[in-house]
Amino acid sequence: MSQKCRIYSRKDFVGLRKAGALAAHILDYIAPFVRKGVTTLELDELCHEEIVKHGAVPASLGYNGYPKSVCISVNHVICHGIPSERKLNDGDILNIDVAVISEGWYGDTSRMYAVGEISSKAKELIDTTYEAMMAGINLIKPGIRLGDIGNAIQTRAELKRFSVVRDYCGHGIGRIYHDEPVVLHFGTPGTGLMLEPGHVFTVEPMINSGGYKTKLLPDGWTVITADRSLSSQFEHTVGVTEDGCEIFTLSANGSDRPYHAVAE
Ligand code: MF3
Ligand code: CO
Ligand code: CO
Repeated sequence: MSQKCRIYSRKDFVGLRKAGALAAHILDYIAPFVRKGVTTLELDELCHEEIVKHGAVPASLGYNGYPKSVCISVNHVICHGIPSERKLNDGDILNIDVAVISEGWYGDTSRMYAVGEISSKAKELIDTTYEAMMAGINLIKPGIRLGDIGNAIQTRAELKRFSVVRDYCGHGIGRIYHDEPVVLHFGTPGTGLMLEPGHVFTVEPMINSGGYKTKLLPDGWTVITADRSLSSQFEHTVGVTEDGCEIFTLSANGSDRPYHAVAE
């Protein structure tokens, strides 16, 4: 498995930083609107307006024919949920995935949100997903391999008897939305691409409370758990530096970490 991957310069990192910060800002901005009774379409429209207001472009809109500006994946939806007239209910958990193009640079990030009181199982799933993602990201520095990241994520998830989705993965990103390398969220230490300064990619594990098998709905986008168990995901865009990594999509106020309730 040999992958050739683009190397981005310090100057490129300036653009990536700005795009990542904007994507993170959109997820901060939308948080107070995530409440019982709101439709996922309303959330999509709010995100769209806020992205455009900043002079950026929603990267997902029209991407391979995707019809909306963001992805909103509720409960057993794993990813690529299409915003719709569906109203959020108490107890729902959802992922909002925002990708933007800012001055030609992409930023891609997602978080989990909760509506009212959620089950302790759902909380554990969300916490584990975040911790798994960060366990992977915290390893990143030149010389480690992608398999080290995948293994750290898988180990964390399976320790809690959750499963890691195999069919969707992280990706290189930069001036292209989905580029090499393929970033698996499971794997074997010491295998795969060896990281170098200037590599830029996403880490975005999808973790299920049941089995890892997926099912694509007839709309051609919505991916659900085959067993209808709950699914959770977080995503950051990161760049490898000389001695570690820079997370481009951190929230300015710490809101990229999980939280379980939103304002009543
Ligand atoms: N943002 C998603 C990712 O993390 C991709 C969504 S593609 C879309 O890679 F077309 F479904 F929006
Ligand atoms: Co992504
Ligand atoms: Co994304």
